[in-house]
Amino acid sequence: MSNIVGYIGKRNALPIVIEALKRLEYRGCDSAGCAIIHDNKLQIYKKPGKIVDLERSLPEPNLCSGSVAIAHTRWATHGEPSEVNAHPQIDCYGKIAIVHNGIIENYIPLKKQLIELGHQFISDTDTEVIAHLIEQYRTSEPTIQEAIRVALSKVEGTYGLAILCEDEPDQIFAIRKGSPLIVGIGDNEHFIANDVSAIVIHTKRVFYLQDDELCILKGDYFEITNGFREKVKPQVSTVDWDISAIEKGPYKHFMLKEIFEQPISVDNAFRGRIDESSGNARLGGLKLTPQDISKIEQIHLVGCGTSYHAALIGKYMIEDFARIPVQVEFASEYRYRNPIIQDNTLIFVISQSGETADSLAALREAQSKGAKVYGITNVVGSSIARESNGGSYIHAGTEIGVASTKAFTSQITILFLLSILLGRQRNLSSIQGLEYIRELQRIPAKIESILQQSEYIREIAETIKDSHNAMYLGRGINYPVALEGALKLKEISYIHAEGYAAAEMKHGPIALIDKEMPVIAIATNDPLYDKIHNNLEEVYSRKARLITITNEGNTELENISERVIYLPSTLQNLQPLLTVIPLQLLAYYVADLKGLNVDQPRNLAKSVTVE
Ligand code: F6R
Repeated sequence: MSNIVGYIGKRNALPIVIEALKRLEYRGCDSAGCAIIHDNKLQIYKKPGKIVDLERSLPEPNLCSGSVAIAHTRWATHGEPSEVNAHPQIDCYGKIAIVHNGIIENYIPLKKQLIELGHQFISDTDTEVIAHLIEQYRTSEPTIQEAIRVALSKVEGTYGLAILCEDEPDQIFAIRKGSPLIVGIGDNEHFIANDVSAIVIHTKRVFYLQDDELCILKGDYFEITNGFREKVKPQVSTVDWDISAIEKGPYKHFMLKEIFEQPISVDNAFRGRIDESSGNARLGGLKLTPQDISKIEQIHLVGCGTSYHAALIGKYMIEDFARIPVQVEFASEYRYRNPIIQDNTLIFVISQSGETADSLAALREAQSKGAKVYGITNVVGSSIARESNGGSYIHAGTEIGVASTKAFTSQITILFLLSILLGRQRNLSSIQGLEYIRELQRIPAKIESILQQSEYIREIAETIKDSHNAMYLGRGINYPVALEGALKLKEISYIHAEGYAAAEMKHGPIALIDKEMPVIAIATNDPLYDKIHNNLEEVYSRKARLITITNEGNTELENISERVIYLPSTLQNLQPLLTVIPLQLLAYYVADLKGLNVDQPRNLAKSVTVE
């Protein structure tokens, strides 16, 4: 969503915050802005568009230099992307500047009250009320901190905020509730950001602000108060980060780089988590004893978007290996639905970023009902990772392309390990466990062999890039893969695409099929192969353009397909790790051939920290 950065120290602040913003631009940006204290005056610069547009509009460096600055990229929620709606938002006198990530839910009544008190609003944003509220209480409260405290006590919603005040030119105020905010400690300088990748080039010593903590930052000093009252000592940690993770290297786009990283990222997800001697998986972060595992009666898997699709795949695996009923749900539904959580229900929230607002809220909702909730996340130290009762990192490495690829296969890998762990305590023998683990160990090489077909998949992309619609079909464990393939295509190529369980075709969607419609079907060797083959014959006889994905050695689909993509065989429960690869490549090449901004598709953000 929105990104926040800030700097206070001895160096010229503006180039530092602009550079930091650029490192987060991949997460979505429709306008950008910054505030700097120059000659003890607050100066604001904003522009719709990308960060380079803001950069180009800045005055000569000597007119906007200073050692304190905050900056922001916006992803519009309230009000169109425009200069006036870009952050920083300011009070009536332009003396208080605010950058905000989150949503103020009660901004309409607050705005009305403030207008009645004489405040003049210039934007359509929810954020602007915070600047005016602070201005309002600045006159009645003894300190700026108190004014911020009282102002925020009126606000309902979520926020990560950085605040600059002309009257207090040598400090930045940072505060969060429900949106991430990280402070970086440098040498007589401090940084703030909502994501560590923005500042890691300057310092690896960071701490994460907790909800309701206010941090006052000066160059050589910081102070944190909890609820604005008690002083708090932060837990400073050293981030283990390799800057090359956020460079594209030889690849044209981050998405392509991340697709090609999957042999390694899948390996990283299972490495060290396998016990060959007992044919079992080790997921120590779950902190579950064998007794705990044997008591589990039900599992809920919760996530959004691609993570939700990984959860659907997890259901097939866990129910197959462990025979435990699994319920999969969108986090956005789960959080408001008053879910039934019985004793011995295990809940997993799956989230690459660990910051998705709906997933975090689902976690809190389940915890408030007394449940233990486990996180399957990628970003170390993220809110879901910190607030869950245990969990597993997927170790996929930084994922920058907005369309999730390597995180998906790493999530599936963890869910596979989980299904073995649960299964070994129930149905699976050590021999079976070992057989399945051995096959998992072969997956990276099999992914590698599929990646070698990328040129062929690019040729297929040429043939469908001008289509207006596309249909993805799968059955069994490949049905969620069809959903994921369709999501990948639509989000980066803007071609309308839908995934269906192949047998559902005849209940409605088949009416859509004509000779213009590409149908991408996954028909791998498994017990449902004959069934999906029949479904594809039905599609073929309606003249659809069939692109099929099947296993090496099975040539019979060539009769009905425009193109066939051949994959190595694997265990049924591991197939999604292979079948999704050509679908990721196909979506990527279609979008690239259409000349679209693959890594930053329109209207999307990498981490959806608003509801
Ligand atoms: C699609 C995509 C999104 C995310 C979703 C959840 O390619 O990336 O659908 O999967 O926004 O994000 P996380 O996993 O960070 O909770």
